[in-house]
Amino acid sequence: MQKKKADLSTTLRSAQDDAFTPPVLWINARWLKPSESPKRNKKMSAKIIVADSPEDFALQCARLVADNAKEAVEKRGQFSIALSGGSLASQLYIRLSEEKGIDWAKTFVFFGDDRFVESENPYSNFSLAFDSLLSRVEIPNGNIFPIDWNASTPALAADSYANTIEAILGEGANNIPKFDFIHLGMGPDGHTASLFPRSSALQIDDSKRIVVTNHAGLKPWVDRITFTLPLINNARTIVITATGEIKAEKIKKAIEHPDENILDLPIAGVSPSHGNLIWLLDKAAASLLGL
Ligand code: 6PG
Repeated sequence: MQKKKADLSTTLRSAQDDAFTPPVLWINARWLKPSESPKRNKKMSAKIIVADSPEDFALQCARLVADNAKEAVEKRGQFSIALSGGSLASQLYIRLSEEKGIDWAKTFVFFGDDRFVESENPYSNFSLAFDSLLSRVEIPNGNIFPIDWNASTPALAADSYANTIEAILGEGANNIPKFDFIHLGMGPDGHTASLFPRSSALQIDDSKRIVVTNHAGLKPWVDRITFTLPLINNARTIVITATGEIKAEKIKKAIEHPDENILDLPIAGVSPSHGNLIWLLDKAAASLLGL
């Protein structure tokens, strides 16, 4: 049966919790000796993968999702993933739709952020993911959780999305749901999801607020619904994908100075508390890392 965007609605399930061990640095499929690693804060360890070509980039991204999906289903019987928006994401998701070995029937798909627009709107991250991935794989409608664009206000949409996430994923040890995998992009201004520099969504001191609304920090100038950093950083695996020299300076700052002021550089706030952080970059985006 041909899936239609408007057919998607919310259903209810539940999940369990589990621990995770962060790896050391890895570039271009070889482990870095400690003496080679960029100057870093010991607080967090991350993998940096630098892809050789756009095809290699999309392949590596698809493999990361497939490997994590396999592990999650083996360990916990299901895989929860939050997708990103942006131009790079659509290219990656087309390749992901061709990846074998992902049990889509046991996969639950959410959105790390979205624009508060209806599903047919070209600005909709859900629409992007639907066209480039979800309409191309055998995933049940009930496993796809877009934001509720019919809500009367963005704030109500954010609250109901938080409730849906808690209902489907349950609450982790720290009363924050734990995603298996969160895919994030990064803007040239260092924003990620819809966490824009100096925006209100970065100044929420209640770690229990997992999804909030935020004003747009750049085009499209529509209200946003976005995961907060506490929810993002509670994930088991976070993959940040970025390409192009225009992003190299912010990437260097975030990787080499993770204690950078998050209000100015939101991406620096991505620091999984018990999880695994992977930067998947092209050579231009990694050009200032001195690798
Ligand atoms: C959004 C995204 C945003 C995106 C970055 C990177 O809703 O716009 O979620 O965070 O990932 O802006 O976008 P590009 O891949 O287009 O550079």
